[in-house]
Amino acid sequence: MDFSGNHILTIDQFERSDIDKLFSVADNLEPYASKQKITRALEGAILGNMFFEPSTRTRISFGASFNLLGGNVREITEAGSSSLAKGESLADTAQVLSGYSDIIVMRHPEEGSVQKFAEASRVPVINGGDGSNEHPSQALLDLYTIEKELSQNNKSLDGLRIALVGDLKYGRAVHSLCKVLSLYSNVSMSLISPEELRLPSSILNQLSESGVNFVQTENLEKGISEVDIIYVTRVQEERFTQKEDANRYRGLLSLNQSIYTANCEPNTVIMHPLPRDSRSDANELNTDLYGNPNLAIFRQADNGVVIRMAMFALVLGVEDQIEDSSRLVNWKVGLDT
Ligand code: NCD
Repeated sequence: MDFSGNHILTIDQFERSDIDKLFSVADNLEPYASKQKITRALEGAILGNMFFEPSTRTRISFGASFNLLGGNVREITEAGSSSLAKGESLADTAQVLSGYSDIIVMRHPEEGSVQKFAEASRVPVINGGDGSNEHPSQALLDLYTIEKELSQNNKSLDGLRIALVGDLKYGRAVHSLCKVLSLYSNVSMSLISPEELRLPSSILNQLSESGVNFVQTENLEKGISEVDIIYVTRVQEERFTQKEDANRYRGLLSLNQSIYTANCEPNTVIMHPLPRDSRSDANELNTDLYGNPNLAIFRQADNGVVIRMAMFALVLGVEDQIEDSSRLVNWKVGLDT
């Protein structure tokens, strides 16, 4: 795909070579993401960070990534604070906001809404999550994390064995991740969810067509026993029409250290797109996993910055200009330990 000057709306746009390109740009940006160096490659550019649904990691890391490339960020953080609340159409909002921005990231509760918005936009739009449909930047940072974690054990994405746990029906992060994993060979998936929260059939079909081997089960212990990665997700209660329905699934699939020790191979990595539901009746990932070196959830969240920096650099065509304005940071980074 041609990144430069194009929207990123679905992970279906990506081929393996695009992922390789993105990851190599991300690797080059690592010293900037980790605040060893500064670049002004996007000086003067404006990101419109339009979030019409709650977000912590995605919004802040997209914004921080743009800032780290030297650009400025303007934000909407709830639908109620924009003119959509006054009946304005997405197309009109897109026409207007794209006049104020060089690139737009958008999250919206309706499936397909970001695509609709992009059709009327005069600048590239990145999908920050559209309802339960897709979350392409999350899939890219997840894949980057999986590759990095696996490489520690001399494993690669080809041949990956992964367990996806939780709400596979409404979880957009899982949907995009399944699609991107289907680009790799010999992938096997253990899809662990209550029966009513299984992956949509369109995604199951895509997995079958691309040769991914999968089993569907409700049994956590069995499903996590022979995998490289366990990817846990939250019950997406905001997508249920009745809140009580979501409550029925809370706590059914919760992982703790003793379940891990009894069932997992010693190097199995634990991931979660976050937020994890830490209410006592849910406890998706028990805090007793904190001491487990294979708990990668915060490394995964950190990777959101470098991957989103790479996305901006490629879409705005500055990936070869990063070094031009580069210098070392002049402040103290982090805590004295
Ligand atoms: C996910 C999302 O918003 O889809 N969060 C995220 O972006 N890291 C997952 C979730 O909300 O459960």
